[in-house]
Amino acid sequence: MRHKGTSFQIVLCGFAFLLHLTAGDLSYSIPEEMRPGSIVGNLAKDLGLEVGKLSSRKARIDTEEKYLHYCDIDFKTGNVVVRERIDREELCGEKVSCVVKFELVLENPLELHRISLLVQDINDNSPVFPKDTMKLEITESADKGTRYRINEAHDADIGQNTVKSYTLQNNEHFVLSVREDSDGSNSVELVLNKELDREKEHDLNLEVVAADGGNPHRSGTATVHVTVLDANDNAPVFSQALYRASLPENSPIGTVVITVSASDADEGLNGEVTYEFSRISEKAKKVFTLESQTGEIKVTGPIDFESDSKYEMRIDAKDGYGLSSDSKVMIEVTDVNDNAPVIYMKSLTNPTAENAPPSTEVGIINVQDRDSEQNGQVRCSIQEGVPFKLVPSIKNYYSLVTTGKLDRELVSEYNITITATDEGSPPLSSSKTVHLSVADVNDNPPVFEEQSYSAYVTENNKPGSTLCSVTARDPDWRQNGTVIYSLLAAEVNGAPVSSYLSVNGDTGVIHTVRSFDYEHFRSFKVHVMARDNGSPPLSSNVSVSVFVADVNDNSPQILYPSPEGNSFMTELVPKAAHGGSLVSKVIAVDADSGQNAWLSYQIIKSTDPGLFTIGLHSGEIRTQRDISESDSMKQNLIVAVKDNGQPSLSATCTMYLLISDNLAEVPELKDISYDENNSKLTFYLIIALVCVSTFFLTFIIIILGVRFCRRRKPRLLFDGAVAIPSAYLPPNYAEVDGTGTLRSAYNYDAYLTTGSRTSDFKFVSSYNDNTLPADQTLRKSPSDFVDVFGDSDSSPEVWTPLNQ
Ligand SMILES: *[C@@H]1O[C@H](CO)[C@@H](O)[C@H](O)[C@H]1NC(C)=O
Ligand SMILES: *[C@@H]1O[C@H](CO)[C@@H](O)[C@H](O)[C@H]1NC(C)=O
Ligand SMILES: *[C@@H]1O[C@H](CO)[C@@H](O)[C@H](O)[C@H]1NC(C)=O
Repeated sequence: MRHKGTSFQIVLCGFAFLLHLTAGDLSYSIPEEMRPGSIVGNLAKDLGLEVGKLSSRKARIDTEEKYLHYCDIDFKTGNVVVRERIDREELCGEKVSCVVKFELVLENPLELHRISLLVQDINDNSPVFPKDTMKLEITESADKGTRYRINEAHDADIGQNTVKSYTLQNNEHFVLSVREDSDGSNSVELVLNKELDREKEHDLNLEVVAADGGNPHRSGTATVHVTVLDANDNAPVFSQALYRASLPENSPIGTVVITVSASDADEGLNGEVTYEFSRISEKAKKVFTLESQTGEIKVTGPIDFESDSKYEMRIDAKDGYGLSSDSKVMIEVTDVNDNAPVIYMKSLTNPTAENAPPSTEVGIINVQDRDSEQNGQVRCSIQEGVPFKLVPSIKNYYSLVTTGKLDRELVSEYNITITATDEGSPPLSSSKTVHLSVADVNDNPPVFEEQSYSAYVTENNKPGSTLCSVTARDPDWRQNGTVIYSLLAAEVNGAPVSSYLSVNGDTGVIHTVRSFDYEHFRSFKVHVMARDNGSPPLSSNVSVSVFVADVNDNSPQILYPSPEGNSFMTELVPKAAHGGSLVSKVIAVDADSGQNAWLSYQIIKSTDPGLFTIGLHSGEIRTQRDISESDSMKQNLIVAVKDNGQPSLSATCTMYLLISDNLAEVPELKDISYDENNSKLTFYLIIALVCVSTFFLTFIIIILGVRFCRRRKPRLLFDGAVAIPSAYLPPNYAEVDGTGTLRSAYNYDAYLTTGSRTSDFKFVSSYNDNTLPADQTLRKSPSDFVDVFGDSDSSPEVWTPLNQ
């Protein structure tokens, strides 16, 4: 996006001629004085362009500054139409061929066509004599055939429309003679046809009519006033038939351009020669005067080479009697470097999109210098340090093109200064600053400030609480840089992520939607997307890992012995047990983790405080010393299990111990946990057993009696002893299987003490009945509790099976 270096461009305008020059020059011819709107010709047809292309290619007519903007393009029809009244006489004066030149500029690609408009003359001017009345003084002695020059008439039109004939009012003395001079002008003379007689006529008035050759023709009239004199006279004679002078433009007022002189052979009044312009253009009249006495032509107005470089005029020299002769003066104006080049911005793509490839044309510049030759040769340059250069195109046109990539995020606008210098001495220069904005393109995706985010929340949080916030930046402009946050759809633990978290689209603040339970899952990961509002939008995403911290909200759960305190969970301790023997073990777990699940065991009450100890953290109950005969048979221990949380939670259980080698030796066993229901049940069972046994024995005796009587071969099958099934279960009946998972089904175990007079039936309900709901089996390994935040990647954890 950054432009690589810049180049300083100096280009000679002259090279421009070589490039792009199109052959398709057009020329049209129209009469002068056409109404504005009149059609000159059809550009579209003549250039072979579709009409619509003219406006899309920004067709326009450029004229040099000294010309008025005479023509326009009608984009609907493709016609060139007259815009301003064209007066051939004003435009071209006496030039035979009057051509207006202008240029047709087309862009994309830049194309230039020269258009020449030949302006034809119409007969819109009448011949005019310089003066309405011309005075002639003629001596009566003048001979027949003597010629007297009078001013010719002038018609601003050209060709046929200019003065073609003169007629003289009928009179007896004079006839008219018209001669054509070499330079095209006429010499109009009155020729004396019959001698004058002062005594008869003092003066006479003759009417001269000049007519042009137009159709219809126009005419002009002047009166020649002839005074008849007594004396003789000579006409003045100019020293040169043609005076040439050269005048630098901008010459100050009062400058003498040239001095003309004519001499008259007469003396006195007859020899006093005066000078005057006999024929002079309106333009020349404004800038020159002719001193009538001295013959000096002086500057009285601004001389500008660029508007008029040449003046032609005719002058008359007259003596006191009105006899005259004429001569011609040509003044050439020389150029001075008085015009600085002018830079015109012909088109500019502003703003330019930042993704414009290098060498994109962003503007077209035209440079004009009104001076001529060297003074009008222009060099153009562009300032350093901008990724643009000027490429010469067709004549005096330059394309402003990019040299590298633009990046609005780095530079959003350029002030490009173009300088044009001419080759005059001293040179003149001018500069123009072009302001170019770079338009945004959605070329930057939002970028998160962090590679990834982590958020910590303690469990049992309030739903709706703020978790953390993410921020992404997009340097593009307006909506292209407006960042909108959203959660990427995903599932966490089988539920949509939106049921866990929500993100504020504008601010990127993440809120919790529900309360988290550390025991349910410890961490999860979501992805937040930042998208801009461009079209098409750009986006990026970031991961947010959420870690749930544990709170000591679970008290220890005692798995064994059942905290219900049922006395049938009785441990047998052999009488011969030595000090330090393992007697039993309290098994407890805590659903929390870390310190909150670090359990310690303590005997808080016991029948004989000195006999048993419990491992602080193992929960193993051992004898502290050898068992002696004096120790009570029944020993009860109340054990407290505490976790290490703040504050700590605890649970207690009772452990029943029986010091005996054989349960049968313990008549008082039932006293350990005397149970009314059990006794009754036992009672009924005994009755039932006795009845069944009695009935069975009686039945056997009867059968035996019958057999004995028949075969007389008595055979004894039973010795009268009662066989009692013995299902001895080890005291640690709550089995823990290999994987550590406790059996969740109901256990129904019964045992009878062999040979006892009373039988104990023990109905064991599910040991986890009240401690744990069947569907929420603990599967947490204490070793897992240690590494809480170690694994940031883990999705909601599955509890691993208890391994103890
Ligand atoms: C360009 O010129 C304008 C007006 O002179 C100015 O306000 C602006 O700061 C300039 N910009 C740069 C990039 O120089
Ligand atoms: C945004 O970028 C798109 C091109 O990706 C462009 O057309 C549009 O103008 C830009 N919007 C703004 C406000 O600059
Ligand atoms: C998230 O960003 C990564 C690269 O950062 C990309 O591979 C992945 O496609 C993005 N995911 C979505 C849904 O946009």
